[in-house]
Amino acid sequence: MRMGVLTSGGDCPGLNAVIRSVVHRAVVDHGDEVIGFRDGWKGLLECDYLKLDLDAVGGILARGGTILGSSRVRPEHLRDGVERARRHVEELGLDAIIPIGGEGTLKAARLLSDNGLPIVGVPKTIDNDISATDVTFGFDTAVTVATEALDRLKTTAESHQRVLVVEVMGRHTGWIALHSGMAAGAHAVVVPERPFDIDELTARVGERFAAGKRFAIVVAAEGAKPTPGTMDFDEGGKDVYGHERFAGIARQLSTELEERLGKEARPVILGHVQRGGTPTAYDRVLATRFGWHAVEAVHRGEFGRMTALGGTSMAMVPPAEAVRTLKTVPPERYTAARQRLHARRGVHIAGGGAVDAQPVGTPGPLGAHAPHPPGSKGFTTHLDQPTVRQGDAQRLVPRRIDLAVVQDEAHTTGLRLPGDKHRFTGRDIDDAAGQSSGAGAGVDPEWSAW
Ligand code: F6P
Repeated sequence: MRMGVLTSGGDCPGLNAVIRSVVHRAVVDHGDEVIGFRDGWKGLLECDYLKLDLDAVGGILARGGTILGSSRVRPEHLRDGVERARRHVEELGLDAIIPIGGEGTLKAARLLSDNGLPIVGVPKTIDNDISATDVTFGFDTAVTVATEALDRLKTTAESHQRVLVVEVMGRHTGWIALHSGMAAGAHAVVVPERPFDIDELTARVGERFAAGKRFAIVVAAEGAKPTPGTMDFDEGGKDVYGHERFAGIARQLSTELEERLGKEARPVILGHVQRGGTPTAYDRVLATRFGWHAVEAVHRGEFGRMTALGGTSMAMVPPAEAVRTLKTVPPERYTAARQRLHARRGVHIAGGGAVDAQPVGTPGPLGAHAPHPPGSKGFTTHLDQPTVRQGDAQRLVPRRIDLAVVQDEAHTTGLRLPGDKHRFTGRDIDDAAGQSSGAGAGVDPEWSAW
């Protein structure tokens, strides 16, 4: 067989790993021929290509970017180019085209596929917002880069007692912001999916300083916006490809926080550093699996589909599914991240009214509870324990836990989980109650739980 590969749209760590994998599987295992179109769809439309053999893909597994080059094509140009693309596919004797790209590329792939061209797509984006796959390669690398940057920024922020507002990529979705913010222990995260309340954000950061902490890190996805009308905000405009051109959340938010808090605040824009450089091991493996499965799909004649990861398994899905809706951060993920992570037991103390602590014998909000043993001293509380992971979602299963009232050597009263050394202090409970009432009172400044 003969197949053509191309990389289109914004680049992403792992593109070269896919190209290499396609060549290895096709050329070595199947005895196929592979060509690579230069600079994305442009290469197909202009018949600009190179032969991809084993030598051509030697040493590229760990290399960022794409050896084929990439470009963005205006949708109307591609629509006009369908016949030209078909002619080139025929002239070159291609049995399949494997485009590797994000939302725009997959839309283009669908257009060509609907017009009868043999297409097998491979999804990519650091934003991780393609709904038909649990993960896209490039995301892990971007989160790793952003997390390392946040770790570094913490030390300089602390030296200068500053608020640093760190802008990460994420046009429509806050996956990179959420994951890097959680990984680095940021003090607030704002995402495009949910307009932020500037008063609440100011209060959170202010509380942190009031509690004696000397710095704060706010992670902002580039597409995050305030609740309309709550602060002056320039939303920017659109570029020639119809993509939003943002006016800079980090700059605007740091100016606002500095004015409101009287603390020095600085914007830090991580930008394309998140897309460049070597892919993480996870992304290399995912990219390699995608390439391998794309070639297998070509051999099965399974056109008009793209590779996807579901849980830990590979699947072929229609690109229509991939472009129909964006995979946004589900509210429960965001809410969970807002809540204080109870590091000592690895359980989330639930917010949103699910946490309470009440004297023995009082029915809890989950309905009738088992009676306490006679004479037991205890409280009933409801802790949400993450138990089931489905794709990116974590299902929280409420369970009831009896807490014993205990006193330490200093005669401070607290609560203890059965069989556990950890004692919940009054403050833990206040914090949880403060969050559950939405008051934001008593929030632990180490993890303000946005
Ligand atoms: O789609 C991936 C992405 O990295 C977005 O997060 C970001 O807004 C965009 O690409 C930047 O694209 P460009 O390289 O065209 O500026």
